[in-house]
Amino acid sequence: MTPLCSCNKSKDNSSKHDDKNQSRCACGHGRICRLDKNKYHFRMRNVAIVYFSGYGHTKKVAEHIKIGIERVKEVYASLLSVDEIKDVDALNDYEAIVFGAPTYMGSVPYQFKKFMDDASKVWLKQAWKDKLAAGFTNSGSLSGDKFNVLMQLCTFACQQGMIWLSLGVENTSGQYESSSGHVKALNRMGASLGLMTQSENNTPDVTPPIGDKKTAELFGQRIANYVLKLG
Ligand SMILES: Cc1cc2nc3c(=O)[nH]c(=O)nc-3n(C[C@H](O)[C@H](O)[C@H](O)COP(=O)(O)O)c2cc1C
Repeated sequence: MTPLCSCNKSKDNSSKHDDKNQSRCACGHGRICRLDKNKYHFRMRNVAIVYFSGYGHTKKVAEHIKIGIERVKEVYASLLSVDEIKDVDALNDYEAIVFGAPTYMGSVPYQFKKFMDDASKVWLKQAWKDKLAAGFTNSGSLSGDKFNVLMQLCTFACQQGMIWLSLGVENTSGQYESSSGHVKALNRMGASLGLMTQSENNTPDVTPPIGDKKTAELFGQRIANYVLKLG
């Protein structure tokens, strides 16, 4: 039985929508609702992917996480650049938040740190407590000190009382004869705390490579499945 949204329109079946072209319900409720194939609307679980991206590579990774999340029915992902977030309380309605930042000087960029500091007002209320959290980072070098950024993101989420989800994708580099860290391999850097991707010195339409993007999608699916598990 598909759970219905808690907004007034869903309380009985008269909420059936007539507009055949509409796929998302504008019920006015805080949550984003979707229409099923019979045009009844049901509650979506909503995941925010909060990211900063100076040159577009981290944004590209965020887009692939979104693809993975939305492979799971009933889960929708919103891409939110920290530049666009006027008030961190806007995130309070999401079931899960995924944090993503490039590695700059072995650390989160100041733009993302500002977001983290702004979120101290959420910490005061513990408004994100028990929400699911996960994180990702992209950098130019294979290592590039990405682990430090994942540690920063994880620590931030734990300060907020959130439930941190690991990457959970096996490193498949062993399937490729030529090298470990093959660009087609999943989780080629063998990360566990979160998703690591590498972009080298090329444009976001070229890099990170295919294996990293597929890993991002599997990570997104895992996040969505856990959102549903947490109810
Ligand atoms: C200010 C700055 C600092 C950087 N520091 C690192 C670093 O510490 N390690 C690394 O591997 N790459 C580093 N890079 C490269 C970026 O991580 C890389 O270009 C990445 O793709 C940027 O992501 P974005 O396109 O989302 O901004 C740095 C880039 C900039 C602009």
